[in-house]
Amino acid sequence: MARNKKREGRSQSNIYAHIVGWGMRVPRSILTNKDLAAIIETTDAWIQSRTGIKERRIADEEETTARLGLFAAKQALAITDILPQEIDLIIVATSTPENIFPSTASLIQHWLGANNAGAFDLSAACSGFVYGVDMAAQAIRSGSIQTALVIGAETMSRVMDWQDRGTCILFGDGAGAVVLQARTTQGGVLASVLRSDGAGYDLLGLPTYGGIEVRAQDGLKDPKLHKMYMAGSEVFKFATRVIGESIKQALKEAGITLKDVKLIIPHQANERIIQAAARSLNLSDDLFMSNLSHYGNTSAASIPIALYEAVEQRRINVGDYIVFVGFGGGLTWASTVIQWTVPQPGDQEVNRRQERKRRAGYALVNLRVMFKQLQRRIGRFLPFLSHKDP
Ligand code: UT7
Repeated sequence: MARNKKREGRSQSNIYAHIVGWGMRVPRSILTNKDLAAIIETTDAWIQSRTGIKERRIADEEETTARLGLFAAKQALAITDILPQEIDLIIVATSTPENIFPSTASLIQHWLGANNAGAFDLSAACSGFVYGVDMAAQAIRSGSIQTALVIGAETMSRVMDWQDRGTCILFGDGAGAVVLQARTTQGGVLASVLRSDGAGYDLLGLPTYGGIEVRAQDGLKDPKLHKMYMAGSEVFKFATRVIGESIKQALKEAGITLKDVKLIIPHQANERIIQAAARSLNLSDDLFMSNLSHYGNTSAASIPIALYEAVEQRRINVGDYIVFVGFGGGLTWASTVIQWTVPQPGDQEVNRRQERKRRAGYALVNLRVMFKQLQRRIGRFLPFLSHKDP
């Protein structure tokens, strides 16, 4: 983890990791509190007053974690001059991957045509995106890579226990992404603090069919074991305790103070948690980005989605210091301090030639994917033509 005493002295090699692209994607379908009240014993008033959530997006069959992540990634790339072949590393932070392996990141790498990239999934629950940004920034600053794509993508609705009113009212689906690139100008990701406390291992989790614990308990027969669980009030207390502390530590590492900060983008878990964090730091609620009324808690996707909307709303400008703070299962928590260095999308010229090249690349990959699917279908009837792909 980064240990930098001053933002000026951030990179020994004078390489800085800047966020140069950002994107998001949420499912089309909206589930309101009123819709929920028709399924479980709850009310719109209870949900709004206890969480601040009004509605959330729910993925359909087509909108998988990888597909949501892919669209967010394409949007993030579209505001840069970067071609998929120039990406060196793809990290997908998720608790709802397509599979335990192969990684969702590898699938997105393939669909983007990012043929020179390494790819892996990162499991740190709702803190995963902040962990991913730090990992990518470290690799860039070390000089080992130039360009990274970090995605937070989730389809939490697939793992909800829809009879548990303490959890199912909170979560939603979506994806957000950022592109990070090496530059010699100062700024970008300045410092991060990552933490974990496995003593809270049992407070929040998702046992899985592929997981060793479930197998050991013969849980393969118990569908309830494969749903998300959460000890809500314990997690609430943990979150309100660590947010302020973590932000202060990261700011100290970056060599700046709370007064320098333009916007804090917290994990969107509960409006009351955000308000408690603001109170603990003696800050106004306005300094915290909040969009959970529309999306609920999208786990690892919540911070990049909120970042995208904050940029859209022009709440972040060139030179601003911003902070991401994530917390969740593990228990894990993490903060990162960033100096924003890229103008608003409308203010910068989009490179049309690169955009055309990217689109041509995506079309080629789509053709290849369709061809493979066709080959598999034909192979079922004519086995001698079957491609020996796993
Ligand atoms: O992303 C990872 C991080 N996650 C979080 O940070 C989530 C943290 N936790 C929370 O946001 C809150 O704990 C919840 C929103 C989950 C619950 O709010 P709470 O104020 O802590 O409520 P509670 O669990 O203490 O329950 C209070 C009452 C209970 O009834 P009784 O026992 O007092 O009669 C619950 O049964 O509220 C009841 N309740 C509900 N009532 C209506 C719980 N869920 C509901 C519901 N609708 N959906």
